This record gives sequence, C-alpha cells and structure tokens, in this order.
Amino acid sequence: MNNVEKIIEGMTPLQKLSEMTQLNGAFVSASDAEITGLAADFGLNRENIASIGTVLNFTDAKEMKRIQDTHLAESPNKLPLLFMMDVIHGYRTIYPIPLGLGASFDTELVKKCSALAAREATADGVQVTFTPMVDLVRDARWGRCMESTGEDTYLNCLMARAQIEGFSKGNPEPGRNLATCVKHYAAYGAAEAGRDYNTVDMSEHTLREYYLPAYRAAVDAGVDMVMTSFNLLNGVPAAVNKWTINDILRKEWGFDGVVITDYNSFRETVAHGYSKDTEHCARLAFETETDIEMMSPCFIKHGKKLLDTGVIDEERLNRSVRRILDLKEKVGMLDNPYGAADEALAAELFLSDEHRAVCRDAAVRSAVLLKNDGVLPLSEDIGKVAVIGPHAKSGMIGFWSCRGRADEAVSVYDGISAVLGEDRLVYAKGANGEVREKSDAVMIKEAADAASAADAAILCLGETAKMSGEGNSRVDISLTDAEVELIRAVSAVNKNTVVVLFNGRALALGNVIDDAPVFMTMWQPGTEGGSAAADLIFGRRDFTARLPVSFPYHSAQCPLYYNRMSTGRPKPKDDKHYMYKSNYIDYPNGPLFAFGHGLCYTEFEFSEPVLSSSVMHTGGTIEASVRIKNVGKREGSALPQLYIRDVVACPVRPVRELRGFSRVTLKPGEETTVSFEITEDMLAFHRPDGSFGADEGEFHVYISRDGESGSYAEFELVK
Ligand code: NOJ
Repeated sequence: MNNVEKIIEGMTPLQKLSEMTQLNGAFVSASDAEITGLAADFGLNRENIASIGTVLNFTDAKEMKRIQDTHLAESPNKLPLLFMMDVIHGYRTIYPIPLGLGASFDTELVKKCSALAAREATADGVQVTFTPMVDLVRDARWGRCMESTGEDTYLNCLMARAQIEGFSKGNPEPGRNLATCVKHYAAYGAAEAGRDYNTVDMSEHTLREYYLPAYRAAVDAGVDMVMTSFNLLNGVPAAVNKWTINDILRKEWGFDGVVITDYNSFRETVAHGYSKDTEHCARLAFETETDIEMMSPCFIKHGKKLLDTGVIDEERLNRSVRRILDLKEKVGMLDNPYGAADEALAAELFLSDEHRAVCRDAAVRSAVLLKNDGVLPLSEDIGKVAVIGPHAKSGMIGFWSCRGRADEAVSVYDGISAVLGEDRLVYAKGANGEVREKSDAVMIKEAADAASAADAAILCLGETAKMSGEGNSRVDISLTDAEVELIRAVSAVNKNTVVVLFNGRALALGNVIDDAPVFMTMWQPGTEGGSAAADLIFGRRDFTARLPVSFPYHSAQCPLYYNRMSTGRPKPKDDKHYMYKSNYIDYPNGPLFAFGHGLCYTEFEFSEPVLSSSVMHTGGTIEASVRIKNVGKREGSALPQLYIRDVVACPVRPVRELRGFSRVTLKPGEETTVSFEITEDMLAFHRPDGSFGADEGEFHVYISRDGESGSYAEFELVK
C-alpha cells in the first residue's frame, strides 16, 4: 500500500469531507468568535476547519507558514494544507494581462512570463495557480476577456499549452514550479449579453468545435486541476454537470486530476433554481466526479448523512481524497509542509532586474499599433511632449495582479520622462478615469493648452484595472464622452497626437478613430508598461503584436468574431446598406480592427497565396506559400496568418479559421517566401454523427495579414 492509500485508510469520513473543502486562508487561523460567525453561514466548526485540505488566498510566505503551523497543530491527521492562488499574469512583478500576451502570438514569451511568475509565487508559499483561463471570448462586453488569450480556438490552445508548460516546468530549480488549474469549465466565456455569471446556451456542435478544445488542450498538456464554471450550460449548472464533468472530462478525455468548483458555485445552484437547498445540491454534486468544493459547505455539511443513508459510498470520497493527496504528494507538500516558501528568496526575486526586463519586453511584444498616420515613431530630438490623460501617471497592472502594486509600476509619464528628461514634458490630466461623466471643460481646456504648446501629445486613455476582470462587464465599451472630447480638443491643436489605450477587452472606437492620427493599445501592460510604451513611441523597438480579438465600431455589434458563419443573405463587400441582406442600416457588419490586425514601422506586401497542388488526396499534404516583401524603410516583422475555409459542409463551417501563423523579420527591400504545410487534420471538424474528420470537397486557403483581408487559393480534398 502506498503512502497516499495508508493516509486514506486512517481518515474518518468527516476528515475526508473536510479534505474535499477549500476555504480562504484566513479561516484556518480564525478566532473562535470568527468561527462562530462562519458556522452560522457555513455550518462549520473548529473540527471541520482543522481538517480542511486546501486553502486559497493568503498574504505571503510568512502568513503561509503561520497558517500551516496552526493547521498542523490542530489537524488530527497532520496532513499539510495545499496553498492555491490566482497567479495569472505575474506575482509581484506583473506581466501584461493574458489578452495582451495572446496578442504577442508568441508562445515562448508566454512560457517565460509564466515561469517567472511561478518563481516568485513559489518563494512566497504558493503551490497551485488557478491558471490558465482558456475560455473562448467572443463578446467584448464580458469583463473577463482580459484573462483570456482571445477569440480564436487555435490560438487559445497554443497559449493554454504554453502557460501550463511555463508555470509547471519553466524553472529548472526544484520547487520553483506551480501546479496548474485550467478554468472555467465549460463555456463560461459565452455568457449571454456578455454579463458575467450569466446563462450559456449552445449546441453541442458549437461547444465541441469552438469552446471545448482549449480545455482539452490543457488536459493533454498535463494540467493538474480543472475548475468548473459558474454558468448554466444548457439549463444545468456547470458545477454539477454530469455530462461535461463525468462523461466528457473524466471518461472521454481521461482526466484523472483534481476537479475543483469555482467560488461558492455549488451553493449557487440554489439561486440558479437547480437545487432546492444545500443538501439537494450536495447529492447532485456527489454525482459528479468533483473533488474540491471551493468556499461553500455542501460536501462537508451533508456528506456524512448521505454516506450514512447509503446515498453515496465511501469509495466516492476516497476517489476524491486520493486525487487531492496525489497532488499534494506531487508538489512535495507531504514531505515538506512549507513547500518552497522562502522569504529571503522572495525578496530577492520580487521586481528583480531580470524579471523587470522580461516584463518590459513582454509589454513591448504585446502592444498593438492600431492606426498610424505617419506620426510614430517620434524622434527623441523632439522639443516638448505633452503627456495627458487619467492614466498618464498611473501604473497599469490590470485585474488579477496578485501581489503586484500599481505604485511600483512604470507609468507612461515616467517612461517618456526617462527618455526625454522631465523638463521636456508637460502634464495635464484632461479627464477623469473610470466614471462615464460629462466632460470637464476646464480639464479639457488645460490639456489642449498644454498640447498646443508641445511638439507632440500623448494621450493615455481607456480602462482602469477595475473596468475589466471578474464581475466587471460593460454595456458600453467605447471611450467616455470626456475622453472623446479630449481627443478631439487635443488633436485639433496638435497634429502629432498619439492615443495610448489601456484596456482589458476590445474597445469600440468607431466614434473616435478619425479624430487622432495614432491609436495604439498597451492592454494592461504590467510593471514595465510605461517603459515599453516609450520604447515603442520613440521607435527604439517596433510593434510586433496582433489583435487576438476583433475591435468593433460600436458596442452593439457584440458578440463579434472573425470566424463567423456566412448567412444565407450575405452582404456584398462594400459600404452600402442592402435591403433584405444581413446587415445594419447604420454600421458595418465587420470590425473596425480585425482579429490578427497590427501595424508596425515598416510595410509589407503580401502576394496572392499559391498552393503546391489543387488537389489533396486523403492522407496527403499540400503546401501553401506566400511571398512577403518589406516595402518600407526599416526592418520589421510580419505575421502571415494561415486561414482555411471548408466551402460546403454539414454543419456549415466558418467563413475562415486560423490554422497557423509564422513570423518573418525582413530588412527594407528584402523579400521571402513563407510556406505552411496543410494536412488533413487541419480540415477536420465534428460531424453530426459524433465523428471527427475531414470531408471531401472544396477548401479556400488564405495567407493574410489578418482575419478579414486577403484573397484565397482553392484546392479539393479527394478521398
Ligand atoms: C472566482 C473566479 O471565477 C476564479 O477565476 C478564481 O480562480 C476563483 N474565484 C478563486 O479566486
């Protein structure tokens, strides 16, 4: 009998149920009075709390050790706690938000940032991170777009793998990696109307074809845990959904790691109207192979009764406890209850030069140049620069920034000042940040005055950390009225106006895009955001990132994504409105900035795509190529994207889908051929009979600079 089995044999049913319960760290060291308060809500007593298996959230290595000591002193079976946290895009050093990292289209960069985050987190006492979040996002109103790597399933799968590899294997030193948890299973990103926690209703085809693959990619990449989501999925809460948890995740995909609920989501099945009380929920919950209940008491409160009355058997508990203990053993907690916590090392790693350098590079490689009418890059010999806007002097680290502190991050003002010196800068706030207030004429006038006396104006606008992330959905994802007025007032007096956006989602910029010559997004760039902005603005570095989400003209276009289906009445490709075609009277159907769009400081010419054959025989491959030439004046990197359309299929396939991308760096005048191998599995899809494969027929191939443009070459798959 192995160690874990011996431990299980010595545990009482109540201890097993406690092991399956996760509470906030503060609960473990709570006073008796606090426990009484908790008991009222959760029905827990000191004995239950003493035996819990895992905690989430605590402040640092010192507190982690204190919580562990309290626990080990009180716990009857002396099983160390496992410490989990949302280490999402950094720990103390904060890297760009995942949406920004998605924009890098660079999996090596993502691995690096994840590995460094794990290094800092493990030194501070964390063993498990609730990452990666792989929810497919098609509706920019949803606040949690910032945690995702975007609207494309293929890109999300690559990024899921990269995050898992970085967090869990990225550091060679023992103890410096984190166990990972993919979330939120399943289809949480499809919340109706982009409102967080809202209902999801979708066909099995859409679920399997577009939403499930990234969770599956995470499982295949060796993720340790899966977190279920808050939403209803086709009328059944995902937290107690036997189909997704037992049939798909456990049986079909063979996942034998830990399944954890999201925060309180078992109990929320009552509010959903799916269970009548926590006991009913516990029954339903035990029917799924879920192992840990996060911050709600259904297992612990009702498990014993369900066991005594024969509704469940002890083997059900043993299976879950075994998975939890296996994870504890894997990360070394059964041997050393303090894990790799090391206060001195943490202090050394936090914000170290090495971590800051990666952070700056990552922020550069995540920023997307949306529009540039010849103003960027600015010369460092420029005279005065007005740095304006509610976010000009703030560190923009974004939601889920763990131990990161905005006051330790470089603002755009600081970044520009480091290049030009503060005496060449003027500052004006120009508008308020978060509130959608009426414009403040005085602030705008001050900003315009500052801009008119300067040689360039840099406007730092968009969203604060609190305007995206969990719970922060928005109906209107455009800039505030005051920001729009500010852009107009400043660019009226200064032709070198650069709008630097901070945002945790795609923004709707249709009403303002013509009002300034330059728009770039830094997303929420993290600790070195301002230095990265300066690197880009002065052309010390070039832009290399591309949009991982479509930017609409108007909020009401949401949901909006490039890999949509064609309607039966598609609109011709022009600006007119057509009666009885699928279009709007007042706005275009498509995005203002397409998925995959991003400019740089040079220009590229793409040839038409060329195929090595117009026929692919089953099991064979064909090659698709494009000639790319740098026709600009400086070296730059192009990101040719391979898209494929299956022209006739049942069910129908999207107008195009990303199947590959590549990066080439070319000097001025230089040209090269970029080729992609197309294989049959790149043409496969879920058929109505449940099979997965490619069907005979015609396919279109694009190698384009984004998800909307370019022309295609055709081939036929013959079986
Ligand atoms: C709720 C969030 O939905 C989830 O992403 C997070 O991991 C947990 N809370 C724990 O903080």
